[in-house]
Amino acid sequence: MSYTISKVETDFPKLNSFLKKVIESPKQHFLWLNTLSLLEHIGSRKILLTQSNQNTSEMILRHATEEARHALFFKKAANSYREDQEATYKNNELLRGSSAKIYFAKLDASVRKELKKSNIAPEHHSFLSYLYTTTLIELRALDVYESYNQILRNTLASFQLDNLILEEEGHLDEMQKEIMSLDSEYMTRLERLIQKENTLFSKLLNQFILAVV
Ligand SMILES: [Fe+2]
Ligand SMILES: [Fe+2]
Repeated sequence: MSYTISKVETDFPKLNSFLKKVIESPKQHFLWLNTLSLLEHIGSRKILLTQSNQNTSEMILRHATEEARHALFFKKAANSYREDQEATYKNNELLRGSSAKIYFAKLDASVRKELKKSNIAPEHHSFLSYLYTTTLIELRALDVYESYNQILRNTLASFQLDNLILEEEGHLDEMQKEIMSLDSEYMTRLERLIQKENTLFSKLLNQFILAVV
């Protein structure tokens, strides 16, 4: 994998201590898995809602399908902690569900704002917005999923994220190629957006930590 784009900043000690804590309690682990399912589902739904048009490509269809599959994967893992009824996406069955939704919405708004300031023709904004938002989320997801996967491996959990991580890496590569060909200023634009994502994720992680203390 050849990432020419910058990485997000991740406080790994903080992230790992949260992840270790969250999996200690089956109830909390359930909430965490269901929240990951929701985030994957929001991603998949958003791709279909915003990128369905005459130009809808194989890449878009594959991407939406894979994110939907990730949502299902985490939902099934969450349900494995449930004996009575299936998990819903109601707030009381999520780990700081509102904060997770806010993270996604604010990230999306930051990307759209950034594109509005640019000289890029408005007809390209929707597709570029999809590419940038996805890139930021994939960069973050890879750090979180790799750390989480390591912990799952160490604790001999019944499921692991190897295939899911490979698919997220594939998405990141595809987004990167498209962005580079469509936006000549992608390096500086992405750098600014990564700073914004760092702030938003740091707030979200603090919320997650508060929920498991
Ligand atoms: Fe995903
Ligand atoms: Fe993805």
